[in-house]
Amino acid sequence: MDLWHIRGGRRLDGVCCVQGSKNASLPILAASILSPSESELHNVPRLRDIDAALRILRHLGCEAEQRDNEVYINANGVTHSAIPHKLMLEMRSSVIFMGALLARCGEARLSPPGGCQLGKRPIDLHLSALRQLGAEIEESGGEILCRAKHLKGAEIQLPFPSVGATENLMLAATAAEGATVIRGAAREPEIAALGDYLKTMGCKISGAGTDTITVGEMSYVNHTEHSIIADRIVASTIACAAAAAGGDVELRDVEPAHFSTVLHFLKQAGCDIMCQNRSVRLRSDGNLRAVGEICTEPYPGFPTDAQPVLMAALLKARGRTLIRETIFENRFRQVPELLRLGADIELCGQCAEIRGVERLHGTVLNATDLRGGAAMLVAGLTAEGQTTVCDDGHIRRGYESFDARLRALGADICLD
Ligand code: EPZ
Repeated sequence: MDLWHIRGGRRLDGVCCVQGSKNASLPILAASILSPSESELHNVPRLRDIDAALRILRHLGCEAEQRDNEVYINANGVTHSAIPHKLMLEMRSSVIFMGALLARCGEARLSPPGGCQLGKRPIDLHLSALRQLGAEIEESGGEILCRAKHLKGAEIQLPFPSVGATENLMLAATAAEGATVIRGAAREPEIAALGDYLKTMGCKISGAGTDTITVGEMSYVNHTEHSIIADRIVASTIACAAAAAGGDVELRDVEPAHFSTVLHFLKQAGCDIMCQNRSVRLRSDGNLRAVGEICTEPYPGFPTDAQPVLMAALLKARGRTLIRETIFENRFRQVPELLRLGADIELCGQCAEIRGVERLHGTVLNATDLRGGAAMLVAGLTAEGQTTVCDDGHIRRGYESFDARLRALGADICLD
């Protein structure tokens, strides 16, 4: 059990280099098995979910090692097409290996994936899209068996721009005969990053990052090198922390456009924000005002992953903010914990109304999920006295050396 102890009331000042993106790294790690080749990946964060993906790669027969933020994969010797239940349960992204294995081995045997409990997280869109490429899929006794003797390019319309379904389809389509056109695709920066990696692997692909992606066949290359983009949700979390605690923080190595919707609301709350090429400077006196209404949406809308941390930043903001969550049915799990700090939040279905309070009082909280846990840390930075967040490892699934990064900015935080 990780115990995060925070004493609130310190400003955050200084420069913070933002880690590489977890959600960009994971599908790229799965994609590395598409061809018998080597991949060198730079800027990969050291996280529990990355370790889980590397364990899956090794199980499948790859060499896969991480040294600091560099990952080396040799996918010449893929020998297995089944992923054990225990490995599948470690994270949601294990499901992306389905498309990759189907492309590489013509078969994938796995079970439904784990990941944060944010409500129902079906994989029907993944399965239906893969079936349209010609995969035969049987689900029985908690096992999913996918087979494809012959994948055939198709025009596929996704009824919802699911990030995972788009990624699975992109990977499987690299082995299909003829082109696949994915319409209604997710447009997240992580999808564009996967497209860039597939290009360096020798795949003809265009439109990744727009709602129409065309995937052609692969012409194999022996060696691929790729650098992971900055994590826009980690950048958003630090921006929210500095906004709420007060301070002057420069986020480096980021792409400001990737989290512009979060910066938009922080500006509305009273922060002074300057974006430059690959850096964002945020200044705040810590006295924020409410921002009206926020609605989570698929990219380029406001990201559901930043919703809990922005909520935490606005707990003391003057006035009322209404947050409408439209992506996950159970993404307000942080709320009962934040109430225990003295926050005033009313939940009504998929909406949360936050009424700014004068003070928050530190207490012991339980991290409910990855971003919910991060929200509790942000709130703790603005609470009087000590806040302890007890965490089963959720936060370290997505945030690399987060205690050290916040400490370097002046926060009084330690991790036991
Ligand atoms: C990705 O999850 C991210 N995970 C999530 O980040 C992020 O919250 C989410 O996209 C939305 O941006 C990774 O990239 C590893 P979806 P994913 O498929 O792919 C429904 C974090 O904190 N749906 O776009 O699972 C689903 O239930 C995590 O880092 C179906 O109904 O997201 C959800 O309501 C949490 N059927 C919505 O779509 C399907 O087959 C969005 O899911 C697939 C999804």
